[in-house]
Amino acid sequence: MKPVRKAIIPAAGLGTRFLPATKALAKEMLPIVDTPAIEFIVREAMAAGIEDIVVVDGKSKRSIEDYFDSNPELEDNLRKKDKQKLLKLVEDTTDINMYFIRQSHPNGLGDAVLTAKDFIGDEPFVVLLGDDLMQDKEPLTKQLIDRYGETGESTLAVMKVPHNQVSKYGVIDPATKVKEDGLYRVKNFVEKPQPDDAPSDLAIIGRYLLTPEIFEELENTKPDKGGEIQLTDAIDSLNNRQHVYAHEFKGDRYDIGSKIGWLETNIKFGLEHPEIKDQLRAYIKELAPKL
Ligand code: UTP
Repeated sequence: MKPVRKAIIPAAGLGTRFLPATKALAKEMLPIVDTPAIEFIVREAMAAGIEDIVVVDGKSKRSIEDYFDSNPELEDNLRKKDKQKLLKLVEDTTDINMYFIRQSHPNGLGDAVLTAKDFIGDEPFVVLLGDDLMQDKEPLTKQLIDRYGETGESTLAVMKVPHNQVSKYGVIDPATKVKEDGLYRVKNFVEKPQPDDAPSDLAIIGRYLLTPEIFEELENTKPDKGGEIQLTDAIDSLNNRQHVYAHEFKGDRYDIGSKIGWLETNIKFGLEHPEIKDQLRAYIKELAPKL
């Protein structure tokens, strides 16, 4: 079995839920307190042993490339002023093996993944979406790689969501529970079902471990009504030739792809941030009685 060494971070979406900011700024660069969301994603991949990361970016995404590049002027300035802590923060993000590919048209998540086909080659790989931040004892990407060690086939991350919210997600129809601790073989996928029609409450969240055969499926996947190639459609066809598994994530998930989720996450992380936590707590206490 080939090791999982590469990751794709698709970041070429239009980010319409964050307009007008995303007119000129990549959604993935919106900060959680002081750190761009994409850095959390990159760190999760690295903590799981991923060696090479490719970001699929689109227009207005130059800021991501700049963020992971060196910035000699800023570094010199911080060095001269002996701001060693800040210098370390700035330099920390330049040592990562990052590559960038352009998706010329935002033709969907499936199309973004297909853009990275040559970079991935004939190896299993992971896809990490910037909309979801995950926290657990072990990084979710590492959990997926460990599961791949057991299944040897594509394995997606899923999470139990409240039954009345299933219509916001792609949901799996589990064929069998392979392991009591939350490993399922998937029968099929149902996109945004009404609660009464949902085969389970297990929603697909933003981490996928895929075998390279997915690229053939993506090449044969027709665009949906909106003209987008959906990754889940390709995984559904892959499921006809190889088993697809789902690993249930039981840690904390922060949905930062929506305004309210992003704000909640900022408050949660702000209340843990050594520099601002006391001030923020005092501010929330002062504000709360007036609400
Ligand atoms: P979303 O469905 O969240 O779309 O994409 P979006 O454009 O990022 O955000 P909204 O819904 O308009 O606010 C899921 C993931 O797929 C990537 C996005 O960058 C995001 O990480 N994506 C989507 C692409 O890379 N290319 C696309 O054509 C579409």
